[in-house]
Amino acid sequence: MSQVFHDIEKKIISSLRENPKQSPESLEGSTGLSPDQIRRGIEWLKLKDLAIVNESKASLIRLGGNGLESIEKGLPERRLLDSLKDGPRRLSDLQRQLGSAFGPAMGLARRNSWVRTESDTVSLSNEPAEIPAERIIRQIGRQKIPKEMVSPSELAILLRRPDFVIEETVKTKVISLSDSAGSLEISDSSGAIDVEAGVPRVFVARTHPLKDTIDEVREIFVTLGFSEIIGGMTQPSFWNFDALFTPQDHPARELQDTFYLDGILAKKIAMPEQIRRVSDSHRRNWRYRWDINEARRMVLRTHTTCVTIRHLAETRPDEARVFSLGRVFRNEKVSYKHLVEFNQIEGVVVGKGVTLRDLMGIQREFYKRIGIARIKFWPTFFPYTEPSLQTMVYNERLGSWVELFGMGIFRPEVTRSLGITKPVLAWGGGIERIAMLKYGLDDVREFYNNNLSWLRGVHQDAGS
Ligand code: PHE
Repeated sequence: MSQVFHDIEKKIISSLRENPKQSPESLEGSTGLSPDQIRRGIEWLKLKDLAIVNESKASLIRLGGNGLESIEKGLPERRLLDSLKDGPRRLSDLQRQLGSAFGPAMGLARRNSWVRTESDTVSLSNEPAEIPAERIIRQIGRQKIPKEMVSPSELAILLRRPDFVIEETVKTKVISLSDSAGSLEISDSSGAIDVEAGVPRVFVARTHPLKDTIDEVREIFVTLGFSEIIGGMTQPSFWNFDALFTPQDHPARELQDTFYLDGILAKKIAMPEQIRRVSDSHRRNWRYRWDINEARRMVLRTHTTCVTIRHLAETRPDEARVFSLGRVFRNEKVSYKHLVEFNQIEGVVVGKGVTLRDLMGIQREFYKRIGIARIKFWPTFFPYTEPSLQTMVYNERLGSWVELFGMGIFRPEVTRSLGITKPVLAWGGGIERIAMLKYGLDDVREFYNNNLSWLRGVHQDAGS
């Protein structure tokens, strides 16, 4: 694959291809880039696994004060020998001429038999062509050089003399190309930005698709002029069932359908008047012995209709448009289409002349806004509505009709007992079902699997 590089990277790569191991300083020299550009370029190449940086410590040497002086004037011993070239000299004379250098110079010269002394006269006996230290001093000159470049034994001699050589340790970087840089083709679109170059995928934080759907549903009802009402997730059976004209022996109340809060009975479930009229209605219409203790049993709400009916019983409005939204619980076997906890949306319209036709109109509008075009209504049954309908929506992908919201007009047995005098259009259903259609899922459990690749891949604005 041909990759596009920044000019800086290109210069560094081609310099390293010619000279495979380099310090940042030598790269500066060979590329003409600034230290800062070199530093950045190396960093980029390292991130792309194209450059390797080895850091090591190196010992460098340079001449100290005495060393530098002897470049110009010669080493003290050479100066001594030079001043004897024209014949023997007196000790005191030489001492004056050479100053502090005299002692060490004389010592060396004697030890190596370069000079002879007779009483107070010194004469040359055997002048060496080169003194080892001279070669090293010439070699180092005014530079800093790696210690390895000079002979260790010669350096040792020089190090014994004060301020001739100074040794320092420096950290050095050696830059080289990695194996993968070898096979690399460098595009020569000089410095242009390749807008089609591959980029790493990043996954930014996002909301869960189900949460998106919940928010969208809420938004639609708010836009349609509804207000949200909120109720508790635990409710006395009275509000979840009795107030909704669901007889106490109704199968929905069985343990295998409903979660009861074990041993918890609500003390105050409703106003005495409400309890009296609701229980009367049960006795008269369903003809059984209504038990207040059954109505006290606390449940995890099995639908949001309990929130609706409590609100209506409390406010007894002549007109209302409210909705509620939240988690409900059913003691069911988890499967591709059932969860024990899921989310419901529920709404009501209360008003003098409202009819079933209005109810169906609202449904159509809602489904249209959420992106579901083909719907139809089927008759069904709920204990608390009459007539009762069910929306069926067409799943294009599966080529079949699936049931969505339940709805109907609250029965007088429900409303009259609670002092609600105007007709109530009510509907409700699962949000997961809608989200499944939106995201094309066949298994509702997928929303709770935390499958990252699905969550990352799914589009926020998925339509059905
Ligand atoms: N409570 C019903 C359910 O959970 C839906 C519904 C709400 C039906 C209001 C009629 C009226 O399926």
